[in-house]
Amino acid sequence: MTDVEVARNGAVLELSLNRPAKKNALTNAMYRALSVALHEAERDQNIGAVLISGAGGVFSAGNDIGDFVAAVSSGGEMAAADFVRKIAAFSKPLVAAVDGLSVGVGTTMLLHCDLIYASPSARFSLPFVDLGLLPEAGSSLLLPRRVGMARASAWLLAGESFSAEEAREAGLINGVVAADALLATAREKAAKLAAKPRTALLAARKFLRGDKEEILARIDAELDAFRAALASPQAQGALAAFLNKNK
Ligand code: COA
Repeated sequence: MTDVEVARNGAVLELSLNRPAKKNALTNAMYRALSVALHEAERDQNIGAVLISGAGGVFSAGNDIGDFVAAVSSGGEMAAADFVRKIAAFSKPLVAAVDGLSVGVGTTMLLHCDLIYASPSARFSLPFVDLGLLPEAGSSLLLPRRVGMARASAWLLAGESFSAEEAREAGLINGVVAADALLATAREKAAKLAAKPRTALLAARKFLRGDKEEILARIDAELDAFRAALASPQAQGALAAFLNKNK
């Protein structure tokens, strides 16, 4: 078992975030595994869609906070940045099944997915500003486009968390599905997408998703600001408080 389970299911590549003891918080190693899987899915003609889910009744608690702190002290790499660029540039359909908590990048990565289903217990939050950080993954561009400026401001600036039903009403997700039917529903949707005429589907998707260069440019601009914010005393204090509380 690894922290990211990768499995083929017909023409769908399934990626399961599988670190439930840490609420599927994403480590650098997990981002690297996700990036490799997306790279392979992109190249493999037999793969027509990718499905992302979380194990253990949680989608993801966002970036691993220990890795955030280490990235600053070591001046180290942020594997997250590479993953975010990869998922934004990915050309095949992405389907997500969100059960339970979805925090930070757990939620912003969904903006690059095409069909998203969540269980009634799903709870989304984007606590960047409260941590002294900034929205990432292109969310400052894509979230207001998707759900309108009022909701994007409430979620990204005021840090208000929201339910699966609110996410559905806002148009962030496609549907709310009982937890015991969630994965099966997402699998069925992904398999159907993967079986469609590939060239037409990918071309339609490309037009739907808009200007990739604009999105990648926003991701890079956000990352520059994010790195600076991460090194700030406010962010370091907030992250250290989380780590100390959980000691
Ligand atoms: N990074 C690292 N570890 C994390 C984590 C994260 N983002 N989120 C949760 N964990 C760990 C906890 O430290 C704890 O580890 P421990 O059992 O070794 O002490 C374990 O996962 C369970 O988390 P806990 O906080 O006890 O669960 P909870 O149900 O009370 O709360 C959350 C769940 C997600 C609300 C809470 O863990 C949280 O706020 N996490 C941080 C979310 C965050 O800010 N992410 C970054 C966004 S940019």
